[in-house]
Amino acid sequence: MKKSNSRREFISKTALATIAIPLLGSTLLNCKEQDKTQIRVNSTTNKKLKILILGGTSYLGPHQVAYAVKRGHEVSIFTRGKTKPKLHQEAFEKVEHLIGDREDNLTALENRKWDVVIDNSGRKVQWTKDTANLLKDNVGMYMYTSSTGVYYPYLSDSINTKTSLVLSLPDGLTEDEKYEQDYGIMKANSELEAAKAFGKDRFVAIRPTYMLGPGDRTDRFLHWPLRLSQGGEILVPGKKEDLVQYVDVRDIAEWFIRLAENNQVGTYNGVGPKVQQTILDFAKEASKAFDKTSSFTLIDDYEFLKKNNIFYQIPWVMADEKHFGSARIQNANAIAAGLTFRPLKNTILDTYNWWSSDAVDSNRKEKYEANKNSLLAKEKELLTQWAGLTKG
Ligand SMILES: NC(=O)c1ccc[n+]([C@@H]2O[C@H](COP(=O)([O-])OP(=O)(O)OC[C@H]3O[C@@H](n4cnc5c(N)ncnc54)[C@H](OP(=O)(O)O)[C@@H]3O)[C@@H](O)[C@H]2O)c1
Repeated sequence: MKKSNSRREFISKTALATIAIPLLGSTLLNCKEQDKTQIRVNSTTNKKLKILILGGTSYLGPHQVAYAVKRGHEVSIFTRGKTKPKLHQEAFEKVEHLIGDREDNLTALENRKWDVVIDNSGRKVQWTKDTANLLKDNVGMYMYTSSTGVYYPYLSDSINTKTSLVLSLPDGLTEDEKYEQDYGIMKANSELEAAKAFGKDRFVAIRPTYMLGPGDRTDRFLHWPLRLSQGGEILVPGKKEDLVQYVDVRDIAEWFIRLAENNQVGTYNGVGPKVQQTILDFAKEASKAFDKTSSFTLIDDYEFLKKNNIFYQIPWVMADEKHFGSARIQNANAIAAGLTFRPLKNTILDTYNWWSSDAVDSNRKEKYEANKNSLLAKEKELLTQWAGLTKG
């Protein structure tokens, strides 16, 4: 497979549910971006909110719903009624389900009042413009689920919420490049439309990086929990200085609700870990989820990896020019505003247990495990080749 196909395959798998990209590591990530706000995280709240989630039933939404219901909030969700939540079904019994379509039917949202709207299902600028304008006089705050994709291409090592964003496609891009950049441009313009309708003092934009954890509808992160659960010699792609960024989907979900409770507005990068981490440190730390003996072989030759169609293994992404800064995104103002991080080994183990449970369809599991192009399938052969190349 050619590089462009591989990159396109990566983007097409991730773009609808996702992304921008992360990279770099060793000292504190949050050292540059400063924010004076300090929010305390309490396990309960006295403030009961009426929360509307545009979406709510796929990946991020069920975790938000479960946490909001647990904290006593009144939750409404708005979807087409097609996607059924696979996690936290019991919480959905306490939720009002409004049916419509962001494309052309917002009737169920008319003449209703909420304290907060969370826009997870924003896939077109026009959708966000329409809902923001419809709701602006009846809802207190608009929280838009954006993405670190707004920073694409990731050219700098100090990307922060003040970094200027690309708002239209530059000339001269290839079809693949257009495809990759389109998502971030859509997210950036959607943020602007929501902020225009609600005003900056009633608007929140959360820009998550790769969200990992139970319920993911993409297969992109399964490699690590599945592979690490087996132990043995583990192939780690990337150079020793290559950084990774990621965040547990539940940490993002719960933080959304606490920001709403605190009426905390602003723009934040939903990015972890707290401290910079290389891909090798990631693999070692993640392996602590399992009681297995593992050794780690870093394959740090980008040409060898490209030749074998390994351009990414989320959270690692090859740090080519356009992705150089993708795992160097600053998160200090998010941490100051209450973003917390559960231990990586919990994310790994919970994802593994979720994948092994009935919540995941057996066809999906079989298909994943039968994929001959996955790193899981190719690993032994690549390690043998690599040992041959590096011997002596
Ligand atoms: N996954 C990541 O790593 C990542 C990273 C950065 C940012 N993000 C962003 O995070 C957000 C979370 O997405 P999510 O899917 O997990 O959210 P979610 O709130 O769990 O689910 C979204 C729901 O939107 C509904 N929907 C889709 N099209 C619709 C339409 N035309 N009208 C009304 N409802 C519609 C779908 O239900 P129906 O099919 O029933 O309509 C779907 O279940 C996205 O904006 C994504 O771009 C994700």
